[in-house]
Amino acid sequence: MSKTDHETLAEAIIARGCPQLQRLRELRATGWKDPKLDCDFAVQRTVADNADTELSFYWFNRMKAIMQEIDLWTHCVSLRPLDFLDLGCCPGGFSSYILATNRNARGVGVSLPVEDGGHEYTLEHAHRPRFDIYFADVTSYQLGPTNVHHQRLYYLPSQISSTLFGLVILDGHQLRTQISKYKVPWDIDRLLVSQMIIALQVVRPGGNVVIKLTHPERITTAKILYMFDILSERLFTHKPRTMHQNRGSFYAIARGVGKGVRAAWQPRMLQALQELWLEITFGGIEGKGRFVEGADFDFAITTEDLHQKYLDRLISLGLGVWSVQARSLESWFRKKRIL
Ligand SMILES: C[S@@+](CC[C@H](N)C(=O)[O-])C[C@H]1O[C@@H](n2cnc3c(N)ncnc32)[C@H](O)[C@@H]1O
Repeated sequence: MSKTDHETLAEAIIARGCPQLQRLRELRATGWKDPKLDCDFAVQRTVADNADTELSFYWFNRMKAIMQEIDLWTHCVSLRPLDFLDLGCCPGGFSSYILATNRNARGVGVSLPVEDGGHEYTLEHAHRPRFDIYFADVTSYQLGPTNVHHQRLYYLPSQISSTLFGLVILDGHQLRTQISKYKVPWDIDRLLVSQMIIALQVVRPGGNVVIKLTHPERITTAKILYMFDILSERLFTHKPRTMHQNRGSFYAIARGVGKGVRAAWQPRMLQALQELWLEITFGGIEGKGRFVEGADFDFAITTEDLHQKYLDRLISLGLGVWSVQARSLESWFRKKRIL
């Protein structure tokens, strides 16, 4: 992906008047080249890549707290009878929060099998009768515009494809530890696009989608935000305080999907995502797929229009994310005596 597109967007945001992003970029530039952080990063990677049951429980409780934060902010967990879908659901904290909050909720989850490097399933046994889990790789479902004959692909379980869900959570996160004979560097993009396709296929009209994204100032993220913004009644962003404050990740929460100003575009967006999935899975120069590029999301909004029509809204969506990350980096760097 062209670095220039990202740079240009970030610079345009700053030029528009966003000192929070400017500060964050300065901090990143200072921190990332300081060798004192290398050791911290190495430790974090080793701990994350070798998660044992104790760490899974720790993450599970943290995830519950994050879903609570998101719900308190957006009221995305309805208290009426609710069917929800949780992609990348293990260890199960989000689902646990939903099932505990709404006694009439029933959920379906998909998560990478532990033997393929996925996280353990630690949902409380008391909740399990209301939750069905499929251990599968979300990127291996048939998600193109038409079916592709390939041994790696299988059909989305009918329990998922034939249900309309009031809440769909997309928290599948590419793992360094994943074991797959089909592994490619752009699986990170394939995972995100796969989850969005499933969400747009099965979210009930007026339902909610929670999606984990990174860096609102990235061109692809900005276009994805735009897409959910026009398809939904309301779009929120939330940078959790419970965990990963110093990272670029955040959640976008779309309420009332299919009821937005451009709701009629939803089938067209879905079709475009399915075509993109095909390209990044079987296209590219060698027919083995490729990374996504900013222009791949032009079906939602072109880069030019993004700059001309969406900058102020993007800033309002990104502000909290940039501020929280910048504050967290600042205090980390002070502790390390980098600042
Ligand atoms: C950040 S964790 C999600 C935590 C979860 N929301 C919770 O509340 O406990 C990301 C999850 O995505 C799963 N994952 C990663 N790649 C996947 C894939 N290709 N298909 C399905 N799940 C995947 C991981 O195994 C992990 O359980």
